[in-house]
Parts: sequence; structure tokens; C-alpha cells
Amino acid sequence: MTQLKGLILSGGRGTRLRPITHTSAKQLVPVANQPVLFYAIRSMVEAGITEIGIILNPETGGEIREVTGDGSAFGASITYIDQASPDGLAHAVLTAEAFLGDSSFVMYLGDNLLQGGLTGLVQQFRTNAPDAMILLQQVEDPRSYGVAELHDGQVTRLVEKPAEPRSDLALVGVYLFTSRILEAAKAIEPSARGELEITDAIQWQVDQGDRVEPHVVHGWWKDTGKLADMLEANRLILDTIERRIDGAVDEGSQVEGRVVIEAGARVERSVVRGPVVIGRDAVVADSYVGPYSAIAKDAVVERSEVEHSILLERAKLIGLEGRIESSLLGRDVTVRRGERTPRAYRFMVGDNSEIEIL
Ligand code: TTP
Repeated sequence: MTQLKGLILSGGRGTRLRPITHTSAKQLVPVANQPVLFYAIRSMVEAGITEIGIILNPETGGEIREVTGDGSAFGASITYIDQASPDGLAHAVLTAEAFLGDSSFVMYLGDNLLQGGLTGLVQQFRTNAPDAMILLQQVEDPRSYGVAELHDGQVTRLVEKPAEPRSDLALVGVYLFTSRILEAAKAIEPSARGELEITDAIQWQVDQGDRVEPHVVHGWWKDTGKLADMLEANRLILDTIERRIDGAVDEGSQVEGRVVIEAGARVERSVVRGPVVIGRDAVVADSYVGPYSAIAKDAVVERSEVEHSILLERAKLIGLEGRIESSLLGRDVTVRRGERTPRAYRFMVGDNSEIEIL
């Protein structure tokens, strides 16, 4: 088989991660201080896939191009492909037709994270040479996933978000396709929600008698499309980091466990309990930063307590009394206690923000 290409889907609407996605693509939200998208690119390169196409939503794609570049930083060559409107995963595949040609390829949803990499999967795909290979994982509530039914180890039916699932095997956001998927995507009609569904395209292949091979994954897999899953992905990746302190920690501070403090960052009179990453030039002063926190570069935590949270660039937490947890603060967001009386809550918050005072 000739070289496999890679196709990463980083368009979409990202409605479930508003307001973050009002100003940026969700694939750029950092997990352990690295954009989610970078993990997909790295796993492809690791598996020997260096010719990578990235599908973009023209509204948020500019920033992805800027941050990711031509791919040379990853050892890859990246082609950007604008999808005029987010009309479904199979529509995204069709948009990439010129890039894909007649190559087989790995398709990776740009907001997904898959433990264990792609090398073994690519090998299995090459060895068994099926017409398509889908990855599956058992989930507790399959109703919000694409779901596959198997019979004697063969895929018999695929249904997108079934109200009454007949199997608990959800489709993981990584697929291995031959160019047959292009034919399939052309043959299907939009679903009730108006999208060309990848599940329908694969179902078309099954109906045509193509060999669609299932592969059940046992490591973790995360779709970071919602806040809770994004925080969970952050936790899983932080669990794999090694301690490295390049920034400045003063004598009044305690830094415990697996903590990364990047160069230029300062920790003063604070307790940092890992796993935690603190980005370049960030400041943590008179504070507690607890497990599973990722503090991006230039963020500030002062006289506050935070854990199990993600702070994006230049976010500031200042002088809060309670502990912040399970939170995602966007770029340039400030949450601070004011000095004035009478005491009151005062907000200036953008569309679709969510504030919960416990
Ligand atoms: P989804 O998370 O299913 O869709 P979405 O990004 O529109 O988000 P939401 O449901 O919150 O509105 O998409 C999975 C991945 O595929 C994600 O990285 C975006 C990408 N995608 C495209 O590139 N093109 C598309 O047409 C669609 C629907 C998704």
C-alpha cells in the first residue's frame, strides 16, 4: 500500500464550547498547555503519516493556520482546506477530495484525543486491508454518539445518536478509510439534522458488501467538545507529565509532585500540588494551585486557590475567597475580588458565558 495520508477535521461550529468558540476554534483550546489539535498531528507523524490535510471553518481557521504553520515544526507537511459550511463529517471528507486523491487515509476529529497512538492501528489496516476500519469503545450512555452494532465480529449497522441504542459501542473519532469513502459520501443524502453523516457513509459501504473492520479500543479516548470532557482530557494528559522546573520558585513556596513550571514563570509564597503545568511568564503568588490545573502562559493567580481547571493565556484570578474548581477561563478573562463596599457581585460577561456561584 502506498503512503497513508492524514485528514484532521478542525472545522465545525463548536456550539457546545461557547463562549470560548465565539472567538477561537475549540481545537486550539489547550490541554496541558498544548492545543488539542497538536496531539492529533503528533500521533500521525509518530505513525509515519506526514502528509496531513486540515479541514477548517473559514471563520476560525485563520488562527489555526497561524498557530500550526506549514507543519515543519512537527515534521509534517500540512495542507489547509476550507469547508465553506460545517455540513457534516462526510461533507468534510468530500471537501478534501482533491487533497486525498485515491490515497487511503486516517481521519481524526481535531477535538478528539486517543491514548495509545496510531501506529498499531495503521499496521492492522495495512495487514488486513479492509475497505474501512472503525474504532469503537464501550460507553455508558451511547445516545449522544454514533453507535455500531456488530454481528460475529462484523459491523452490521451504524446509527448516529440513536434514541434507543441497540449496542453500547460508540464510534471513536478516528477512522481509517480507503478512497471508497468518497464514493460513499457522494451516494448518501443529508440526515434529518441536515448533515452528511459519516455513519451513513460507512453504512452505505456495509450495505454494498464492503469489509468494514471494527477495532475496539481499550485505552482512554476523549472527545473534548464539552467543558467536562475538556477538563477530563486535561486530567488524563497531566497524569502523564514529568516534573520539570525551569521557572523561578521562591523559598516561601512548596512545589509538590509532577509539576512543570516553564521558563520565565514565577511562583511566590504559594503551594503548587501536581500534576500541574504553569506556562511561560505566568505568575502564581500567595496562592494554592491544586492537582489537574493547567495555567497558560502569561496567566496570573494571585491570592487565590484553583484546582482541576484550565486558565488560558493572560487569564487572571485575583483575591478570591473560595476555591475555583472545574473551570475554564478564556484568554484575557479577569476574575477578581474588588475592594469597594457595599459588597456586591459585578459582572461584565460575554454571550453564552456561564457563572456558577456555589
Ligand atoms: P462535532 O463536535 O461533532 O461538531 P461541532 O464542532 O460543530 O460542535 P458542536 O456539536 O458543539 O456544535 O465535530 C467533530 C469534529 O469535526 C470537530 O473537530 C469539528 C469537526 N467538523 C468539521 O470539520 N466539519 C464539520 O462539518 C463538522 C460537523 C465537524
